[in-house]
Formats: sequence, C-alpha cells, structure tokens
Amino acid sequence: DFAFTPENEAWALTQMTKFPEGRQASAIIPILWRAQEQEGWLSKPAIEYVADMLDMPYIRALEVATFYFMFQLQPVGSVAHIQICGTTSCMICGAEDLVAVCKEKIAPRAHQLSADGKFSWEEVECLGSCANAPMAQIGKDYYEDLTVESFSALLDRMAAGEVPVPGPQNGRYTSEPA
Ligand code: FES
Repeated sequence: DFAFTPENEAWALTQMTKFPEGRQASAIIPILWRAQEQEGWLSKPAIEYVADMLDMPYIRALEVATFYFMFQLQPVGSVAHIQICGTTSCMICGAEDLVAVCKEKIAPRAHQLSADGKFSWEEVECLGSCANAPMAQIGKDYYEDLTVESFSALLDRMAAGEVPVPGPQNGRYTSEPA
C-alpha cells in the first residue's frame, strides 16, 4: 500500500490548484516525482494512489511513469541509482566502458540491485551534457568527463558514504568557474 505523508499530501493538493478546474491531471509529473522521492521508486500502489488523487485512469498515469526515464518502476540502490548516458557523444567517448564498470561493480544487468542493495544502474538516452561526455546522472547530479578510473573511484567513494562533488571529474570546465 501507498499513502503520501501528510506533508506530501498537502503539497500535492497545492500543485493541483495550479491548474484550471477539471485539468488537475496536468499536475501528474510533479506529483509522481514527489511519490518517487518519498519511496525511492514508483511502486504500482504509488501510481494508483496518484491516479486516484488526480481522478484519472491508472493506465494513463502508468503511461506517464513509463515514458520518462526519471521515473523508476522498480527498487533502486539505497545509496545511488546510476544513469549512464549511452547516446552518440558519450558512446564515442567511452560510455560502453562505464557500463562495463557498472556490470562488474554493481550488477550484471540494468535495474538489478547490487548484492548489498546500495547501487543499481541503467543506460539512458542523451542527458544534454554532450560537451562533457562521457557522463552519468547520479541522483539529481551530473558527473561528467568520466574515465573508467574516475568513475570507478567515484562509486567506491559513494559506497564509503562520501558525496563526491558533481560536475567535470577531470578538472575542466566548459566555462570559467565563478
Ligand atoms: Fe551523452 Fe548527450 S550524448 S549527454
């Protein structure tokens, strides 16, 4: 079963008031996102709960949840879910090597949890950071200009409880830092 916490319920109701009467379903993306933040991923009961709240059929809510890869439809690692960009720039610059690191260090298949439950991974389409290829999104952060070595070290540091500084991991910036 799923239910929003009172705080999240109030927040979701506020989102619904931002749309004209009868158009509350337009608030689905932020409300699904909040459900995912609460649970870590979107379970079927969570999607049903949001669909009921927005007075829309479950299948329509599921269509939205399955369309965007920011939504996770199965449990993710408790420390991090790693999203490796596999589109052209990143592919040319070594995305496949990063996927190989994930297969070795996390789990052989995408969306599988690591043995300790801390990590999961998947390959996704372009994340819009092509100038800093290859890159990965981890949580809400981008880690860019990765190499097998820097990416592998990044995972080790996260497993040890660190939160590595996001951005280019080779010291370069696309513009001068402020
Ligand atoms: Fe990887 Fe665009 S191709 S961020």
